[in-house]
Amino acid sequence: MSTPSSVPSLSPLTPAAPSKLRAFSGVQPTGKLHLGNYLGAIKPWVQHQHARENVFCVVDLHALTIPEVVNPAQLRANCRGVVAAFLASGIDPAHSNIFIQSHIREHAELQWLLNCVTPLGWLDRMTQFKSKAEGRETVGAGLLNYPVLQAADILLYDTDVVPVGDDQKQHIELARDIAFRFNHLFGETLKAPALSVPLAGARVMGLDDPTVKMSKSIAEQRPNHAVGLDQDPAKARKVIMKAVTDTGCEYAPGLASPGVVNLMGILSAVTGESVDSIAERYAGRGYGYLKAEVADAVVAELTPVQAEYARLMNDHGYLDSILNTSTARVREIAEGVMRRVRGAIGVG
Ligand code: TYM
Repeated sequence: MSTPSSVPSLSPLTPAAPSKLRAFSGVQPTGKLHLGNYLGAIKPWVQHQHARENVFCVVDLHALTIPEVVNPAQLRANCRGVVAAFLASGIDPAHSNIFIQSHIREHAELQWLLNCVTPLGWLDRMTQFKSKAEGRETVGAGLLNYPVLQAADILLYDTDVVPVGDDQKQHIELARDIAFRFNHLFGETLKAPALSVPLAGARVMGLDDPTVKMSKSIAEQRPNHAVGLDQDPAKARKVIMKAVTDTGCEYAPGLASPGVVNLMGILSAVTGESVDSIAERYAGRGYGYLKAEVADAVVAELTPVQAEYARLMNDHGYLDSILNTSTARVREIAEGVMRRVRGAIGVG
C-alpha cells in the first residue's frame, strides 16, 4: 500500500446514489482484534468493498456497557487502532467510509426512539445479553439495550446489507424486526437490512478450545486462545501449532473433530480454497502438516497488514483526515434519515 499524501476524494454516497447496495458494519474498540474479527468481518468487507457503498463504524458507544472496565484514554486510543486496522487490512478510503460512532450524535437519538418501540421481551431473549449478564452483580441498562443501539447504527444509513460474523445474526434479525415494528406503527420509514455472513470464517473458534467462539475477552486470559491481528509471527505460529485437534494424529475424512474443522475453515477463509478441497488434500495426512500450512498462510496474510498498521499508527494526520472526510459524508445520510424518522414519529 502506498503512502497517500492527501486524502482521496470519496465517491458519492447519498441515498439517491446509484445501484450499489449500501453495506454497514461495525467493530467494538475493546481489547485486541483477532483472527476471528479479521476473517469473519474485515476481510469480507475488503473483498466486497468495490461492489458496494460502504459505511464502516468503530462503535465506541457500544464499548461502554460494562462501565467498571472503561478506561477513557484507552478507549480513544483503541478507536484509532481499529481505524488503522481497517485501513491496513485493505479498506480503501477513496471508496469506503470509516468513522467513529459517537461522532455522529444521531446514533444515540435514533436509539432512544427505537427503544420506545422495542418490546422488552425481544431484548430479554438475546443470547449475547444473557451470556454477558450472567454472573455479574450489576447489569447496566446499556447491556440490555445494546442491540437497540446496534439497530440504530444500521437503520440510520438506509442499510441494504450488514456483513458480519455468524455471532451477530440474532442482532441483525432484531434490527429487522425493530424496523418492521416502527414502520407498522408510524408508516413506511425504515429500511430493513439483509444479513451477509462469509462462507468460510464466519465463526472462527478458539484455538485452545474449538467448542467456543474465538473472543477478545477469552484471549485476554488465555494466550493460546487466539491469534491477534498484531501478533508477532513467531508467536502466531506457535499458537497455531499448539491448536487443539483430536486424540488421533492424522485426518480421516468424515471424522473431523471441531478443532480440525476450525483449522480447515481458517485456511479456507485465508486462501480462498474450499474446505472440501482442503479436506481431500489432507486425507490420511498428519495434523502437524495442516497446522504448519495454516500457520504459513496466516503469517503471510497478517505480515503486510501489521507493517501497514504500524506505519498508519504513526501518521495521526492521515488517520484524522480520513475520519474527517468520512464523517462529513456519512453525517449527510444520517441527518437525512433522522429528519424522516422525526417527521414520522412527530418530534423535532
Ligand atoms: P465485535 O466487535 O464483537 O466483532 C466485530 C466483527 O467480528 C466478527 N467476529 C467474528 N467472526 C468470526 N469468528 C469469530 N470468532 C468472531 N468474533 C467476532 C463479528 O461477528 C463482527 O462482525 N455488535 C457488534 C458491533 C456492532 C455492529 C453494529 C455490527 C455494533 N453495531 C452494526 C454490525 C452492524 C460486535 O460486538 O462486534
